[in-house]
Order: sequence, then C-alpha cells, then structure tokens
Amino acid sequence: MVLVGGKGTRLRPLTYETPKPALTLVDRPFLNYMTEWLGSHGVDEVILACGFLPDELKKVLGEGEPGGPKLRYLVEEETLGTAGAIRFALDHLDERFFALNGDVLADLDLTALWNQHEETGAQATLGLYEVEDSSSYGLVDIDSDGQVLKFSEKDPTRTGTGLINAGTYVLEREAIAAIEPGREVSIETEFYPSITGKGLYARPLEGYWMDFGTRQRYFDASWDILEGRIHTEVEKHSDGVFIAAGAEVDPTATIGPRAVIGAGAKVASGARVTGSVVLEGSEIGADAVIENSIIGPGVNVAARGTVGNEVLGKNEIGETVNA
Ligand code: GDD
Ligand code: MG
Repeated sequence: MVLVGGKGTRLRPLTYETPKPALTLVDRPFLNYMTEWLGSHGVDEVILACGFLPDELKKVLGEGEPGGPKLRYLVEEETLGTAGAIRFALDHLDERFFALNGDVLADLDLTALWNQHEETGAQATLGLYEVEDSSSYGLVDIDSDGQVLKFSEKDPTRTGTGLINAGTYVLEREAIAAIEPGREVSIETEFYPSITGKGLYARPLEGYWMDFGTRQRYFDASWDILEGRIHTEVEKHSDGVFIAAGAEVDPTATIGPRAVIGAGAKVASGARVTGSVVLEGSEIGADAVIENSIIGPGVNVAARGTVGNEVLGKNEIGETVNA
C-alpha cells in the first residue's frame, strides 16, 4: 500500500495540477521508481491510497508498467491521515503487507525488513535511515533487539544526525484493524506511539533514500539518477544529461552540465540550459538562458529570455517557489 494523498505543497506550482507521484522525474513518472523498487522485492500489486487529484494520477499511472506491480486506486473522500488511510483500505489488504510513504525515492532492502518482521513476530516494523539533519523527519530510538523505545515525529528545533523513519513499513493487518475506522489518524503521532512496547520494531537500512518533497530534492534526485547514485536503467545522453527521444534540441544549443530535456520539448538555437529540467512539451526560445530552474510542462520561454532559480509551472509563469 502506498500513501499518495498529500498535496505536495512544497513543489508548487508543479503540483497544482499534477500530484507529486505523477510528476516526471528524468524519464518517467516519479511513482514508477517506487513500483520498480517494490517489484524487485516481490510485490505484485500496489494499492494507491489517494486523496488529491486521483483522476490525474490514474491518467498518468494507469494500471502500472508492463511486467511491474499492478496498480489499484482507493480514493478517500475526506482526509484520513496516514494511519486512517491504511485503515480505510483494510478490506483490500493481505495479512501482512508493506506500507510506504508515496514520496520516497529509495533502494533500501525491503526483503531484509520483511524477514526481520517475521522473525520478531512484530505488529509493525519500520525501516530506518541515518540522516545528517533529522529535524524534518520522525526520529526513532531502538534497543539492541530492534524494539522501538520512542518515536518522535518531526521537530524543527531538533538538531543533528539521527536514525529516522524512512516511511517504509511492514504491517500486520490485525494491528491496523484495531484502529477506529472513519476518523483521521496519524500513523506517526498516534498509531506508533500507541503500540510502542507492544510489538513495534524497526531496522536501520542502508542504500539510497530520499524524501522527494522540495524543489532542491527534486534536483538532487534528478542528478542522483543521472550520475548513477541510484540503481535504475535510464538512457542518458551523457553523465548528468538526459534528452528524451523526440525532444528537439538545436545543435547550437548548450545542454548541461546537468540537464533534463523532456519528451516533446524544444530548445532553439543558441539557447543554454544548465542545472535545469525542461519538462514535457516546453519550448525554450533562441538564445534563452535557463539556469537552476524547472520549466513546464508545456511552458514557453521567449527568445533571449532568462530564467534563473525559478520553477515555472503550467499557467503559473513567473511564480518562484522556495526550496
Ligand atoms: N492517502 C493519504 N491520506 N495519504 C496521505 C495522507 C492522508 O491523509 N496524509 C499524508 N499522506 C501521504 C503523503 O502523500 C506522503 O506520501 C506520505 O503520506 C507522508 O506524508 P508527508 O506529508 O510527505 O510527510 P513528511 O514527509 O512530512 O513526514 C513523513 O515522512 C518522513 C519520511 O519521508 C513522516 O512519516 C516522517 O515520520 C518520516 O520521517
Ligand atoms: Mg514527505
């Protein structure tokens, strides 16, 4: 089960019309990286718990990729929170299942997480990841057996490194069934504290992990994919540069270092695109200069236009979003 009900506010204007899991990251919708990762650990069906723009999600993601997990959609009429959304899906869930935040780009060992869960007989097992700044994440204290001693949701005043909740869980259906239905319940601030000491376990995992919530992390994720820091197949143009098949780039344009030119995009003569992502169907005029920006989809930048440190979304030209 993947939670995709959030509004992606920190990635506006890109997320006004496109929910975050459907945003293009390099060469595919973001969620496809997640289903590829889940599929590589034996998952064959994914339930998407949707709230925001479910039709747009269905339009972009469909039934999933050929050979990958099949996608199903459950739509909440009202916000149920992270645990309430899982409770809402109860009738569709197996005895034991993975639940994930829908905005992480990761390559962690889910099989090891599942195995530990079975060995300890836990009600819930959380995948943890070590980060340098834990302030925007849930911090998790564990003992030497992996039992959770304390779960503390994000706290902007906290400083320093820590083992954080990677938004990657193995859950028992029975534990979720105990949640009262139809009410907004947070898995982080209500459910996990309520089962601490009663079968709540965690396991630190190594590998790649990133919460894909801000503009800066959108860039970081793009370059991590294009520079080989995450395992996935991508047909890059050169290290750090991706140009979609069918994009029209004039031979006199300069693309990169670090750039993504999406499907159907056009870059005219003499233009320069550096450290930027030009999304599908956008057009960059002759001699325009695009630096550290995300353009599109479907946005036109005039000839000799300059765009620096901006995110230009559909119908939202000129709006700047803070990282
Ligand atoms: N269906 C549904 N319904 N999904 C929801 C809801 C809801 O009511 N609320 C949030 N979600 C989804 C979001 O779409 C996102 O994929 C995920 O749940 C987590 O919500 P975020 O809003 O992205 O939370 P966060 O990033 O601040 O913090 C969470 O993730 C961190 C790791 O990335 C927490 O789980 C932290 O503890 C964790 O460290
Ligand atoms: Mg998040």
